[in-house]
Amino acid sequence: AAVYRAGVTGRRPLVPTDGHRLEAAARPHLSRRARAYVDGSAGAEATARANLAAFDRHRVVPRVLAGHGGADTSVELFGRRHPSPLLTAPMGVLSLAHRDADVGLARGAAAQGVTHVISTQASVPMEQIVARAPSDAGHWYQLYWSRDEDLAESLVRRAEACGSEAVVVTLDTGHLAWRPRDLDLGHLPFARGEGIAQYTSDPVFRRLVQQRMAAAGRDTGGDAGSDGRTRPTPAAVAALVSMSRRHPGATAANLRSPEPRAAVQTFLDVFSRPDLSWADLPRLRRMTSLPVVVKGVLHPDDARRAVDLGVDGIQVSNHGGRQVDRSVAALDALPAVVAAVRAAGSQVPVLFDSGIRCGADVFVALCLGATAVAVGRPLFHGLAIAGADGVSEVLRNLRAELDLMMSLTGCASPADLTPDRLSRSGDDH
Ligand code: FNR
Repeated sequence: AAVYRAGVTGRRPLVPTDGHRLEAAARPHLSRRARAYVDGSAGAEATARANLAAFDRHRVVPRVLAGHGGADTSVELFGRRHPSPLLTAPMGVLSLAHRDADVGLARGAAAQGVTHVISTQASVPMEQIVARAPSDAGHWYQLYWSRDEDLAESLVRRAEACGSEAVVVTLDTGHLAWRPRDLDLGHLPFARGEGIAQYTSDPVFRRLVQQRMAAAGRDTGGDAGSDGRTRPTPAAVAALVSMSRRHPGATAANLRSPEPRAAVQTFLDVFSRPDLSWADLPRLRRMTSLPVVVKGVLHPDDARRAVDLGVDGIQVSNHGGRQVDRSVAALDALPAVVAAVRAAGSQVPVLFDSGIRCGADVFVALCLGATAVAVGRPLFHGLAIAGADGVSEVLRNLRAELDLMMSLTGCASPADLTPDRLSRSGDDH
């Protein structure tokens, strides 16, 4: 109702009310390489298209005379009641969207009571995001499990220290994928030092960079001090200062860190562990007492196995089609994963992302068994258009549409969102 009232009092929306139009509206606000990075997907982008098309194959069957005036959209996750079943999807390199980057996104989420999930590829160190975007809705931390185990553990410790309420470990990114739009522009943001602020602000990572520089000697810009430790040369510091000015991940900590090229190379060496296996998962489980969510699960057997190993949540996701082209649409994978988890006797939440664009999409995903959904690209686009206010408005629109849909279809709460509310209609509608 508040959204309508704002409309009729003449306040112009900051962002298109329909989430499908956000991408086009954000275009003038983004550089070519930013558009390639956010709007691009893996390969021929068939999966990215399939993610959206999967929603179109579902139709809702409204019920009438349900006898309640409004819906309660709240859900509980890990002991916290969330006013809506929405989270932010972790997204890296938000500096490409807006100068406020992760701080803007986190502030927009906080304004809507939505928990922000901080990315390991953030443009701003997690401590700064939390300090500059205080939120009653809390925050979670998304981990790319580094090839260097001490670094992975250090990132998790920092997340704990700054109050993260869960760790989401992303399992579908052992390698950066084949992404033609980035490749055609010769653009990998990380290779330019963008989106590596969690690393350059990390003591373990800095040690790795120093080791690399010590091994390579002065060529990489390091000078051995009297204690034998390599220090950046003035030229290297100047290069880092200039790089940091160009992106908002710049911090005092970054400026003290060694030469940027060595940092980028070290990052590329350690950012992910392609040989991660099921045998490793118990170690992460033991690394933290926080709830652990595994993100990127599409196969029911993988979901079952993760639950058997004691994870606290599953996130069905194909990374927005950004990793494996022609992989199954995430929504199409959701019902079987939910069935497998419940058949294993587990009540852990099953989260969902990849293709959420409007409130009706949230409704459908919840009917198919998702406990809550994570919103990705629409928030990047909202951030690009209007900073934190744009993010907040995108989330507000999703919440408002979901609220209305639930009321109009006779659903009092998310518990009423069950598969029998849907009719799978095929493409002929
Ligand atoms: C992502 N995603 C992602 N996932 C993750 O676990 N860590 C990350 O750092 C990132 N970075 C990232 C950057 C950008 C620009 C995008 C668009 C996505 C994937 C993200 O969490 C989520 O899975 C997808 O965004 C969902 O797809 P849609 O709904 O955005 O198309």
